[in-house]
Amino acid sequence: MTKTLIKGARVVNEGTIDQLDVLIDGMHIAEVSPSIQPTSDIKVIEAHGKHLLPGCIDDQVHFREPGLTHKATIETESKACLAGGITSFLEMPNTSPQTTTAQAYEDKLVVGAKTSWVNYGFMFGGTNDNLHDILAIDPKRTPGLKLFLGSSTGNMLVDNPDTLKEIFSAFRLPISVHCEDEQTIRTNLSKFKAIYGDDIPIMHHLDIRSEEACYLSSSKAVSLAQQTGARLHVFHLSTAIETELFSNELPLEKKKITAEVCIHHLWFSDEDYPTKGTHIKWNPAVKTAADRAGLWEALNDDRIDIIATDHAPHTLEEKNQPYTKAPSGGPMVQHALPVLLECVQQGKISLEKVVEKMCHNPAILFSIEKRGFIRPGYFADLVLVDTQKGQTVSRDQLLYKCGWSPLEGTHLRGTVSQTFVNGVLQYDEGVFGTVKNAQALTFAR
Ligand code: DOR
Repeated sequence: MTKTLIKGARVVNEGTIDQLDVLIDGMHIAEVSPSIQPTSDIKVIEAHGKHLLPGCIDDQVHFREPGLTHKATIETESKACLAGGITSFLEMPNTSPQTTTAQAYEDKLVVGAKTSWVNYGFMFGGTNDNLHDILAIDPKRTPGLKLFLGSSTGNMLVDNPDTLKEIFSAFRLPISVHCEDEQTIRTNLSKFKAIYGDDIPIMHHLDIRSEEACYLSSSKAVSLAQQTGARLHVFHLSTAIETELFSNELPLEKKKITAEVCIHHLWFSDEDYPTKGTHIKWNPAVKTAADRAGLWEALNDDRIDIIATDHAPHTLEEKNQPYTKAPSGGPMVQHALPVLLECVQQGKISLEKVVEKMCHNPAILFSIEKRGFIRPGYFADLVLVDTQKGQTVSRDQLLYKCGWSPLEGTHLRGTVSQTFVNGVLQYDEGVFGTVKNAQALTFAR
C-alpha cells in the first residue's frame, strides 16, 4: 500500500486554517497532525506555502454523456475537474437518453466507472410520468432527484402540478430543482421576438428569463416543500429577491430547504453581456450587479449553502448563433476554484467559507460517505492550491471538449497545484496520472 505524506501545508478544514501534516495510506487519510515523521516507505510531498483543501464536490454538472458527446464526455470533463481541484461531481439527467429510467441510470454508472477521472454520482431525472421509477431509486447509490421546473437544454420540463405534488409528497431524498416559470418566459420571449425576430440583443436575456420568472417558480417550489415536508434544494439562484426565501436559522444538517449559487452568477453581471455576448448566456440568466451583490450576501450569511458550477458545455459553433438559437450554458469546472481563490483575494469570501460551500456542504447535504472533509478514515480526496501563483485563462490550456471558456482572458490570483483522488496524485502541476481510480459515490442513508 502506498503511503504519501503532505508536509507543511496550511490545511483549510472545518472552519480553521492550521499548518499540519497529512498522511495518506492507500485510499484514505491515515493521520492529520502538526508533525508527522516520514519513514523510508513514505513518499513526501513538500507543501510549505500552499493551502491544502478537501477535494471540491460539484453538485451540478452536465457532462453530456450519453448522446450529446459532440459537446463533452465524462472522460474529458472529469479530466478538467482534476485540473480544477474538483474530485467528485453529481451529474445531471438531461442527456440523451435522459436519466429517467433504472436502465438509463445503470448505463451511466457503467460509463462513469470506465471513463471518469474523479468520483461520480448521477442525479435521477423526474418527468411528468415516471413516479414509479423515482420511487424505486436506490438511496445508497443515488444522490437524489433533479426536476426542471423551467426548461433548458433537453426536454425535461415537469409542469403538471399534480405530479409535482405527488413527487414532493412521496420522495424523501433531496429534490434539486431548476426554477424558472415557463409561462412568464414564453410571454417575455414573444414580446422581444415581435420586435427583433431571432436576433434579440443578448442583454435582453435577463428581461426574458426575468427576476419575476425566477421568483415565481422558486417561491412555488419552496411553499410546496413547506406543505409536503419534501427535502428541497433549489439550484442556481440568480436574483437577490430569491435569497429571501431561504433561512440561516438552522445548521445545514437540520435544514429541509436549501439553496445553491453558481460561479457564473457570482462572477458575471449584466455589465458583461456587451463583451461576452452569448458566451455568458445561461439559464437562469446572469442578472444585475445588485443581484450578484445579494447572492454574495446570502452566501456569506449562510442562506445559500452550496457553490456549484452548473458546468454545461456547448460547442462554440452552437454558442455563436443568434440569441434564440444559441443554447444556454458554458463550461466552468477547470476554473471554478481559481475564480473563488481570486474572490478570496478580493475580500468577497474567506477561504474557510469556500471550503465550507464547495467541499463540506455538498457532502453533508447529499449524505456523501467519507468525503468532503480532511479527517482520518475519510477518502484522501485532496487539493493543494497556490494562492500566490496567478494565471490568465487562455484557450490553449483548456481541457474541455468544447475548447472554449467564458473566462478566457481573465487573470485569477490562485492556481490548483496538485489534486489527489482516493489517495492517488492524479494531477501534478499540469501532469496527469495515467491510471484512473475514481469511485462511484455512496450515500449514507
Ligand atoms: O444554462 C443552462 N444550461 N442551465 C441549465 O440548467 C442547463 C444547462 C444545459 O444543460 O445546457
